[in-house]
Amino acid sequence: MFISFEGTEGVGKTTLIQRIHDYLTAQGQSVVLTREPGGTAMAEQIRNLLLSVKHEEKMCSDTELLLMYAARAQHLDQVILPALAAGKTVLCDRFSDASFAYQCAGRGLSVAKLNMLNSHFVARMPDLTFWLDAPIELGMTRARARGELDRFEQEKATFFEKVRGGYQTLWEQQPERVKRLDATQNPDQVFAQAMQYLQPNT
Ligand code: TMP
Repeated sequence: MFISFEGTEGVGKTTLIQRIHDYLTAQGQSVVLTREPGGTAMAEQIRNLLLSVKHEEKMCSDTELLLMYAARAQHLDQVILPALAAGKTVLCDRFSDASFAYQCAGRGLSVAKLNMLNSHFVARMPDLTFWLDAPIELGMTRARARGELDRFEQEKATFFEKVRGGYQTLWEQQPERVKRLDATQNPDQVFAQAMQYLQPNT
């Protein structure tokens, strides 16, 4: 199975992924835990370029989108597809839904651009996607508490409201794959919500 985790900043994705990883591993499954942008040495370099706040020029939205897909192509080729072919479960912290939410809904890029990239460069979509949803201010407070903010975290609340709206659209359009979790609850409760969708399949 290929499972992705999505949401705006500070909603608790890392905690949930780790708990699901531990649960599935304890069940004897072979699990690969990875993330986007990143997941391979080269894709992590692209991640650094994407998240850095030290650029002297503004990164245009098309460049941002294309770098996300350059990293994704490398990640699919080197990590995700081989792991799935070997019968492993892949847990991925963000995948192409993040490009819909951040680059289309957030930055305002056309869905046609995204669909073109997905159709050419994404051979496999997740079987299941958890959208951890919480009010923007809650997540931003958690993100700020973690320390220095990256290039995305420095965006204003209005940007993240649009991103959240993008995830909502995906959830409404693809309810079979995208499951909304109430991320205002504590980590035990969020894990319990996720387990409702995991048990029949795993
Ligand atoms: P992270 O903080 O969850 O590791 O993700 C890094 C940032 O990259 C996060 O702010 C969301 C953003 N992002 C996109 O804008 N588009 C994408 O396709 C992906 C995978 C991440």
